[in-house]
Amino acid sequence: MRLQRANNLADLRLMASRRLPRPIFDYIDGGADDEVSLRRNVSAFESYELMPDVLNDVSTIRTETRIFGQPSRWPLMLSPTGLTRMFHDHAELAVARAAERHGLIYSLSTMGTTRLEGLAQAVAGPKVFQIYIFKDRGLTAEFVARCKDAGYHGLALTVDTPVAGNRERDRVSGLSLPPKLTLRSVLSFALHPFWSLPALTGSKFDLANVSHRVDALASGPMSLFDYIAAQFDRSVGWRDVEWLAREWNGPLAIKGVMTPEDARRSIASGATGVMISNHGGRQLDGAPAPVDQIEAVREAVGDAPDVICDGGIRRGADVVKALALGATACSIGRPYLYGLAAGGEAGVDRALTLLSEEFERTLTLLGVNDVAALARRHVRTHLA
Ligand code: FNR
Repeated sequence: MRLQRANNLADLRLMASRRLPRPIFDYIDGGADDEVSLRRNVSAFESYELMPDVLNDVSTIRTETRIFGQPSRWPLMLSPTGLTRMFHDHAELAVARAAERHGLIYSLSTMGTTRLEGLAQAVAGPKVFQIYIFKDRGLTAEFVARCKDAGYHGLALTVDTPVAGNRERDRVSGLSLPPKLTLRSVLSFALHPFWSLPALTGSKFDLANVSHRVDALASGPMSLFDYIAAQFDRSVGWRDVEWLAREWNGPLAIKGVMTPEDARRSIASGATGVMISNHGGRQLDGAPAPVDQIEAVREAVGDAPDVICDGGIRRGADVVKALALGATACSIGRPYLYGLAAGGEAGVDRALTLLSEEFERTLTLLGVNDVAALARRHVRTHLA
């Protein structure tokens, strides 16, 4: 199927599933435990109905907004995803370039496979770096300094990974640490030689932003992953957020906030925004869908902070609903990864084009000619 024939993200997902070996596709597609949150993140949008105003002049539609203090062509940004090179050789650069062309903010993961400095040089558009507070606070401070030097505009601090989620699809496929490949997985890799042959060099798994730390410490293919796993710190608390906010002294969102109390605390600790997120259903299964938490979080933090709904967006109309409920913007992970796997930079482009066209069409049909005019009355909970 050619990219232009993809009518929606579901089509791109199908194309991605054909192009990737099954274990790699499942790594993108899967979630934790019974995948309840993964499914609900998406299905929760269905319980909101859109209430149109008719006979409003919709000959032009204004969609521009600001996120992380940066201009955005419409209220969408790209979430950080690790190991992006596993899905396409052009990796993070392909995604960031497509985001820049669409006037959207790109977030680079600490677990990315492209050096943050190289990405900043190659892509002029607004950029966020996703950071962790590691056991070695020196490593976190080093990232802060590198992001300042490289000109990143914001930081997203991920706080929902004190331990790795239980992703059973990865266990079944053997995509675990260390890998334990089954016969079925090996067959799937053999059937996708374009993916598998370059993978033998190991470059698809290079955690480019931390590798300099490991070379001196240990050797062997898993040492980098072991090093990172050992850096996750279950004792991180609000004081650490205060410390990071002081060190960075710029736009900072806490990613993985779910409750109004934690949202309030994030802002009180020095953050400028929150990303309501359950990590795309990959961590705590049973956590609510981000869209269902928007109203309470917005009420808790007031008008000024960024409230970003992260996860479950599969249609432009979902963004309209989230905004009407009080979000500043939405953020996507899998939607652009499906595009990347389906067709590299052009595939990401297709995903972003589909979403933005759907978004603008929905606003037009809703009778809203300026994104700032979206209001609570434009959505209601489905009357059962
Ligand atoms: C992620 N996510 C993620 N989040 C993060 O803070 N650091 C990371 O390295 C990653 N890595 C990652 C890899 C893959 C393959 C996926 C699918 C997701 C979570 C991501 O930032 C985002 O929260 C979710 O993807 C949002 O849900 P949707 O849009 O995928 O439904």
